[in-house]
Order: sequence, then C-alpha cells, then structure tokens
Amino acid sequence: MAYHKFDVVIVGAGGAGLMAAMQLPNASIAVISKVYPTRSHTGAAQGGVAAALGNQEEDHWQWHMFDTVKGGDYLVDQDAAEVLAREAIDAVYDLEHWGLPFNRTPDGKIDQRRFGGHTRNFGEGPVRRSCYAADRTGHMILQTMYQTAIKNQVRFFNEYFLTDLIISDGRCAGVVGYSIRDGEIHTFSAKAVIFATGGYGRAWSVTSNALACTGDGMAVAYRRGIPLEDMEFYQFHPTGIYRVGVLLSEAARGEGAYLLNNTGERFMQRYTPTLEELAPRDIVSRSIVSEIRAGRGIDGSDYVYLDVRHLGEAKIREKLPDITDFARTYLRIEPITEPVPIQPTAHYAMGGVPTDSNGQVVIDEHNTPLPGFYAAGEAACVSVHGANRLGTNSLVDLIVFGRRAGKHIAAQLASGELDHATLPADVEGFSRDMIKRVRSGGGESEVRIREEMRTVMMDLCGVMRTAEGLQQCAAKIAELQERYRHIHVNDPSDTFNTELMEVLELGNLLDCSEATVAGALAREESRGGHFREDFPTRDDTRFLSHTLAYRADDGGVKELKYKPVVITEFQPKERKY
Ligand code: FUM
Repeated sequence: MAYHKFDVVIVGAGGAGLMAAMQLPNASIAVISKVYPTRSHTGAAQGGVAAALGNQEEDHWQWHMFDTVKGGDYLVDQDAAEVLAREAIDAVYDLEHWGLPFNRTPDGKIDQRRFGGHTRNFGEGPVRRSCYAADRTGHMILQTMYQTAIKNQVRFFNEYFLTDLIISDGRCAGVVGYSIRDGEIHTFSAKAVIFATGGYGRAWSVTSNALACTGDGMAVAYRRGIPLEDMEFYQFHPTGIYRVGVLLSEAARGEGAYLLNNTGERFMQRYTPTLEELAPRDIVSRSIVSEIRAGRGIDGSDYVYLDVRHLGEAKIREKLPDITDFARTYLRIEPITEPVPIQPTAHYAMGGVPTDSNGQVVIDEHNTPLPGFYAAGEAACVSVHGANRLGTNSLVDLIVFGRRAGKHIAAQLASGELDHATLPADVEGFSRDMIKRVRSGGGESEVRIREEMRTVMMDLCGVMRTAEGLQQCAAKIAELQERYRHIHVNDPSDTFNTELMEVLELGNLLDCSEATVAGALAREESRGGHFREDFPTRDDTRFLSHTLAYRADDGGVKELKYKPVVITEFQPKERKY
C-alpha cells in the first residue's frame, strides 16, 4: 500500500487547481493530475478571460455581474456572481504579475475584446471585457501558472487517476488514486481536498472537450453520496468545427466574424437584433439548429458557416492564429478566403459538485458543508453560471474560485479548524474492487458502450430536448449502465493500461450522463442551455431553483431535490437581446 500524508490534496492541475495551490505557501500540498499538468483542458480555452478593467472603454464590475445573471437566465446565485465580477479584476492582475503575455493596447495596458452577452450599462450594447492572449488565452494561463507553481515548489503527482474520495467521521479525509504508470493504488490522507477535475464533454459525440474531460471528480463525489447540481444545464458552443467539434473561438465573432446560412444571410440579425452574433451561446446555438431545421443549413446539410474573410488577413493572423490553423488542419479550408463549416459542439458543464462561494462542497438543499472538501472550476457548481455561462466567464471562474478555495483552506489551516481524520479500515478496498471488477468481467469491451452513449446524448440530450427523447435517452443510459457492469478489459498490463483508464472514465461519464438526463426530464421548462421543445418557455413559478441529483447505492438516480436560487440585486425578467 502506497501512503502519502499532506495538508492539502488538489486533484486536477488546470487553472483552478493551480490557482488554489498558489494560495497555500505554508502548507504541504500535493497536486494529483491524470495528465501531465500542461495538458490540462484549461489549455484549450481560447478567447479570453472576462474582467471589467475598463481598458478599452468604460466598464464596471456591476455591469459584468448583471450580464452574468441575465446570461445565466436568472438561475445564477447572485451572491456568487458578485464575487466573480468583483474579484475577476484582481485575479487577472495576479496573472499579469506572474508574467502572462496578454495582448496589449498601444499604451501598454491589457487589451480587451468583445464576447457574447457582455454588455455596457446593463444591456445597451457589446462591451470590450475579455482580456486575451491572441486565441490561446487558456494555454498562456496554464503555462504561466504551471511555471509559477514549479517556482513555488508545489509537489505534483502526474498521471494518477482519481478513484475514490475518503470520507471519515463526517468529514473529508483524503483521496485514493491509481498510478497509471505502474498500476499501484495510492492513498492520500489530507486535511483538505480540492476537486478541480474539469467537465464531462466526452459524454457527447461532438465536443470541444479533450479526451481527458470525463467527469471524474463529479462521478467520484456522486458515488460517495454527494449530489450533483444542475447537471441538465450543459452548454453547446455555437462554433465547433463541423463533425470534429474542435472549438473555433467566439473571439472570431468578438472580432467581427459573421454566421451565415445557405442564402448568405447573417441570420442572427433576425434572432437577436441588438447583439447579433454576440448573443449568449444558448441562443446562438439554438438559432443555428433552427436554421438547419428550416432547411437553411449549407447545401441543406446540418451546418452553417463562420465567416472571417472580411476581417482581412492581417487581423486574422494577429488575433485568430490558432483557430484559423485548426480549420486548415481539420477541414483543409483556408479561412482567409473561404467560410468555415461549423455546428454547435458540447462545450461546458454549468452544473457539477455543489459549492458555496468559498469553494466548500455543500451536500444538501440547506447548503450544509462537508468539512475539508472543496471543488472549483468546471467540476464545481457555485452556481455562478446558472443556466448558461457567458463566454470568457469560465477562465474567470477558475481563477476567482480556485483562489477563494485556496485562501479559505489557508485560513482554516491557520486557525486549526482542519485536521487529518482517522482513515477507515481498508481505505483502498472500494478502488481495488472497482478495478478488479472491470478487469474480470465477462462482457463486452468499452468501445460500443461509449459510442452508443455519445450518440444518444448528442441526439436526445443536446441543444433541443423533448420528454419522449429524454425518456428514450434515460432508458438507453440505464441499459448501458447494465452492460457496463459486465464490461471487460482485454489488456492485462499494469503499465500505462490506457484501456483500463478508458473503462474507468466511461463509468464516470455514464454516471454524469444519468444525472444530466434525469434533471433534464424533470425540468419541464426552457431556461438557458436546457431547451425543452415541449415546454418552450421559462417557468419561474415551478423551476426558479437548482436541481440536486442523488445517486442510489446500487446505481441510478435515487432522488432529485431542489434548492432556491439566491437573488440579491436583479429580479428575474424576460431575457431579451
Ligand atoms: O469561444 C471561446 O473562446 C471559448 C471561451 C469560453 O468558453 O469561455
């Protein structure tokens, strides 16, 4: 048995995990990561990080807060949105001071550009709020923070796969993980644990998410009795490369790109005349699907065009170098002279492990914290994005709430409120049995189960949903869960057994999917990223509340509970753009 003891264990080495690590200079910390840290999915974020610096034009954190609340279709907890918008400013300056190479204005300030749903003066028109480094902002954040973490001598356990959360005496006591390199199970005892494990976009067949985004933290917490919050709110980014899913940043539209249908019409002018292509993502994605269903997809097919040609070669090369290269690589299209085929792509989980605005995980509708357990970033649901996240609010979420979780733990350690708990007997038993079971099952291998899950989630739990489709989807996921119980791993090796990893990841994706579908079926309204064709309007009387999905011990969703949304400044209104 490999045993480690730290003050704090952070699972995930993306923006949220590293930001938390930076706040704990006096603690012993382990950062455990499934991938090498600089391969974390934060590196795929492109267009920018929102903060009301006002470097290009007047801006205020109150406007940012309002946009976040309205963009999230009023399901946002407004106390958390205030924290996000206020603290974004200092968090971005932290990044600048660590050396992040932001684009600059002529007078040397951080440059800022437009992004969907970010407006001046409470919705009057687009504002320049996104701080950016070309179209590789996440990559720059990750490199900058990883270098700073190395300088600060943070200890990394790379290529360890999270298998279990240890809860003992009513508090979090550590985690169990599996070393991908040699197959050994490791126990990490800790006074505090932070899950910064990212999202689960790989549950859908067309996604912008990296292979690693398999909902590991969410599923591990869910299996240990912690509910998952608002899982039905899953964001489809409007501009994924057709069929491939790889992201073409909203920064393109922020710089002035158009969306065109098969008649060459800028159709967003019809749907959202004020913001046009810069409406929030849920609206743009639905508009694209509506155009396609009306037969206005290109050549009658299921895609439309993203057109940057009119921006000119110099601007494209300066501001959008990566995404235009992606179009060349994946589609053999030259965006300087040709429009690029795009479709909505599964992008971001608004839901996740419920937390308060200090990152503490809460386990019920009364917001009772589980001492010592924290989550931040996409794995968490604060809830700062509500029913729909605005572009560039994810990187802010990582740095603001990663920072707050780290600072809260630092304060609790200093006051002696956190301590190591006694570990349960046979603490590795659950992980060992889980791995043994999938290695000895007599059923099928993972490939078909995975592909069937991704197809059914895309077809029936995507941009548009109906009761009938969601019921079919729930039945299919239940069937796949049953087949998963007998799954078989062919590769007997303990050394870099990627098949075993994929099987464990598939189990996590199935658990996240079942909670998503259950929440979507029960929510008989349309709000943000959750659109029910059979209930096309928002219903604040029945559903101005967060969903909490609890898992049954033997699998499946046991129960859905609801908790109220925190409303401080902005009463829910119809969302018009
Ligand atoms: O379009 C983008 O660059 C994505 C940004 C985001 O999801 O925040």
